[in-house]
Order: sequence, then structure tokens, then C-alpha cells
Amino acid sequence: MKMDSFFATRNSRMKASEIRELLKLLDQPDVISFAGGIPDPALFPAEKFRTAMADVLSDQNQGLSLQYSTSEGFPPLREWLAWRMKQLGVPCAADNILITSGSQQALDYLGKLFLSPNDTALVGWPTYLGALGAFNAYEPRYDRLDPMGNRSAAEMQADAAAAGGRVKFSYLSPDFANPTGITLSLKERQQVLAHAEAMDCMIIEDAAYQSLRYEGEEIPPILSLELAEKGDLNACRTIYCGSFSKTLSPGLRIGWVCAARSVIDQMVLLKQAGDLHTATLNQMAVAHVAADGFEDHTRLLCAHYKARRDRMLAALDRNMPKGVEWTRPEGGMFVWMTLPQGIDGADVLKAALRDEKVAFVPGGAFYPGEDGRNTLRLNFSSPNQAQIDEGIARLGRVLRAALG
Ligand SMILES: Cc1ncc(COP(=O)(O)O)c(C=O)c1O
Repeated sequence: MKMDSFFATRNSRMKASEIRELLKLLDQPDVISFAGGIPDPALFPAEKFRTAMADVLSDQNQGLSLQYSTSEGFPPLREWLAWRMKQLGVPCAADNILITSGSQQALDYLGKLFLSPNDTALVGWPTYLGALGAFNAYEPRYDRLDPMGNRSAAEMQADAAAAGGRVKFSYLSPDFANPTGITLSLKERQQVLAHAEAMDCMIIEDAAYQSLRYEGEEIPPILSLELAEKGDLNACRTIYCGSFSKTLSPGLRIGWVCAARSVIDQMVLLKQAGDLHTATLNQMAVAHVAADGFEDHTRLLCAHYKARRDRMLAALDRNMPKGVEWTRPEGGMFVWMTLPQGIDGADVLKAALRDEKVAFVPGGAFYPGEDGRNTLRLNFSSPNQAQIDEGIARLGRVLRAALG
């Protein structure tokens, strides 16, 4: 029986991730991998979580922590996040916060909320692969988000209309983006906002890496710029998606959305239909640990990851052949490399695994179309410093051979 003849058409856009397939090959102990995108487990605040879990499972709290809960999220966690958003320049009420099962769920719900088939989503070129995966199910058309470029809003709207829909949102990660590591300046953020105003579309601001800054001044979120302009969060078109995955724990799956009440209310309906609510136990544990030193913990993480980033940049300076370029991220987890035109990152990966046992993600996976084959993403949060030195030396040899 051919089961796939029963699958709804939206599944045709949902493909097995090239990265996940590839990660299965990396379990051999002698491979040095820059392919992951995950935090270093040695840095999880495990002791704090042990204490938190004991408390939330105590006789006094188990009736709450093991019970069904509200779709909006655990009230003390929403309160803490309202406080945190204020620190980021977005004073808001707990009612403007929805707790999600990771920020990935927020991206799925936002795709579901805004995209009809053939609507246009503006995304970075390249962009976060998981966002493309989430949006693909809703059968959008993608166009390039390039607010500093020379295509006018009218032109982009006309292209969207010709494709049978309209521009619904711009999706971007302004701080230390996955995969490029690039951070948008204040001027670029203002431009993204002005561009969305001209286009009359929503903005999805993915702040997954926002807390992981290793140098330079913090730049206000786009939502805070818009709020300063409009004076009312409920009038803002920007939807901020946050996550505890890169700071406290990805396994607990706790993210949040901060947005206008009208957006939150509609997302609550999606959440009711989707999974009722995010795991109560996990929300309570995260509320406990966040209140007990979120900032101290992120400071510790930043010190560790900064050392690894510095190590990787120094190793790249020493080992890369002429013609290879890379970003110098101020935070986050990734360096993005551009190879000379005509060199295919996927071919380089095959040679790298075969000849030198070193891995990375070929950059083409992060583009909606066929672009970017001469790019690759390197992660520096998972490998230790010795692995970074050795792995980048290996990659240098692979690239020297590939460039001839
Ligand atoms: C840019 C970006 N957004 C969102 C996510 C999803 O994170 P989570 O669902 O764990 O919050 C990731 C994970 O890697 C990411 O890199």
C-alpha cells in the first residue's frame, strides 16, 4: 500500500533535514565535529535544576507541577519574563507573554497563524533552517529579506501578489544569527522596521541567541524600537520569540513569545489545539532556576563560549588558505565561512569526513533556494579548545587540497 498517496499536499515541502541525517554519521569517537548547534552539556546548571525539581515535586507543589495547566503558561514564569523583557527595553504585562514548547513551537504556530498557501515570507538569505522547516508546512513562497537592498516595498508586494498571496512577515534573528553569526546594527534594525511598515507586514524577531554576547554593546531588540515609536505594545507588529534553550537547557523545551495581546490570544487558541500547554513541571523548574541567578549563569556561559570563539578565530587565521572568508561573530555559537565560487561545501564535507575526520554543515541547507553552495557553518560551542585547534588545522588541510 502506498501510504504517501494519502499524505496531504503540505507534506511535499517537508523533507528530512540534511543536517540531522548527517549528524547520525558523526558518532565515531575520532571525528571532530563543528556540525552541531547545541550547548555544551558540561555547562548546564544541573545542580540548580536538581534543587528546583525537588522543590517543584515536593508535597506542597506536586499538585500543581504534575497537573494540567493553563495554555498561556505558568504565571510566575510569565511574570519573570515580563520583568526580563523590561530589562531588554520592552516593558510589558505578563498577558503579553505566551510560554511555548521551545521557540521552535512558536515558529510553527506563527507559520500556522499567518501563512496561507502562496503567501510570501521574507527571510534572511541564508536563514535558520528550522524556521524554513516550520514555515514549509504552510506552503509559503520565500523572498529575500534585504532591507538595505534596492528592491522597493512596492516591487516586493507586486511579486508576492503575482505569486498568488501577500507578504505576511519578515523573519530574522538580529543577534548572532544562526547560521551566519552576524548581528544587525541599530540602523539595520530601524531599517527592518521601516521596511515592514512600508510593506505592511508583521516581523518575527527570533532572539534565540540574544543573551550570548561576548563583546560589544547590547543593541535593543526591534520590538523595543517599535515600542518606543508607538508607545503601545498592543499596536506593535513585531513578535519577539525567546528561548531558554541556549542559556539554561534545550531539553526542557521552554521558550516564549512577547507580542501584542491580539497575537498572543490567537496563539493561545493554537496552543489549546496543539498541545494544551507546555509541560508544567518544566515551566516551574525553569521559573525557579531563572529567578535564582539567570544573569550569573549567562555570564559564566559567555566567558566559556567567548574563549572558544576566540580560539576558533585564531585557529582560522592560522590555518585557512587564501580566498576563504569567515565572519567574526560578537556572540552566539557559529562562524560562517565563504569559499571561492565553484567550491561546493557538500563535496568538501565528504572529503573532510573521509580524509581528515572533521565535520561541519554545508551552507546550502540554510537557503530556501539553490544558493550558497560555497558556504559552510562552523559551531564553536560544543568542541573543546584542543578539538578546535586540531579540527581547524584538519579543515585547513582539506580546503588547501580542494582549492588546489
Ligand atoms: C535561530 C534559532 N531559532 C530557534 C531555535 C529553536 O530553539 P528552541 O526550540 O530550542 O527554543 C534555534 C535552535 O537551534 C535557533 O537556532
